[in-house]
Amino acid sequence: MSTPVENAATAARTAPAAVIVAIDGPSGTGKSSTSKAVASQLGLSFLDTGAQYRAMTWWMISNGIDVTDTAAVATAAGKPVLVSGTDPADPTITVDGVDASGPIRTPEVTSKVSAVSAVPEVRAVITELQRSIARSAPNGIVVEGRDIGTTVLPDADVKIFLNASAEARAARRSGELGGKGAAAVDATKQALIKRDAADSSRKVSPLAKADDAVEVDTTELTLQQVIECLVTLVEEKRATT
Ligand code: DC
Repeated sequence: MSTPVENAATAARTAPAAVIVAIDGPSGTGKSSTSKAVASQLGLSFLDTGAQYRAMTWWMISNGIDVTDTAAVATAAGKPVLVSGTDPADPTITVDGVDASGPIRTPEVTSKVSAVSAVPEVRAVITELQRSIARSAPNGIVVEGRDIGTTVLPDADVKIFLNASAEARAARRSGELGGKGAAAVDATKQALIKRDAADSSRKVSPLAKADDAVEVDTTELTLQQVIECLVTLVEEKRATT
């Protein structure tokens, strides 16, 4: 009969090690859909870090804080309690115990989230939360955002940077929002370009590709093709560790 120590040793040899996957990139590249599917297929947890910045923004708006007042945002950053559920089949986000998954997707939050996420105190609070969630994921986790490979989890096992042309990103995002016609796509494109420029040019941990990230251009790929590409990259990494 095996001893507990032998059993633990066998389990450690047979169970795949927890794997941390960082997926960054601008809006409309298919990051969320891809990340959720990759996490589901590989039995990993999933964290949408954009939802956390949106939840912080929603809390600021709901509490009457002027999001252009950097000092006020910085002072309030530690107040809301953000909780993210990391099941890729049912990711959740609550703020002070209230479900925020609907309100964080409103145009008002979308237009204000870049200002809030540029405040260093906001980033410090949310980055710490993200690291603790990643550390406690039992089998590993797919974390998607803008600064995951560069700042939040620089030691991630696999780093991906998803990209696509502004036209493709706008067409996808416009479809998600139910917008139709060339004018709707163009308005979405202008809003995306503006938000990406703000996210890429902020001083603290901007949207950026890590030097050791694999860049995948999704412009000409279907969602299924991107998922397969990423699952293969993670499996290859797991096979070598
Ligand atoms: O992925 P998203 O569109 O829901 O993200 C909303 C905003 O949150 C995005 O415009 C920038 C910010 N964000 C960030 O600054 N850092 C991250 N890791 C994720 C999102």
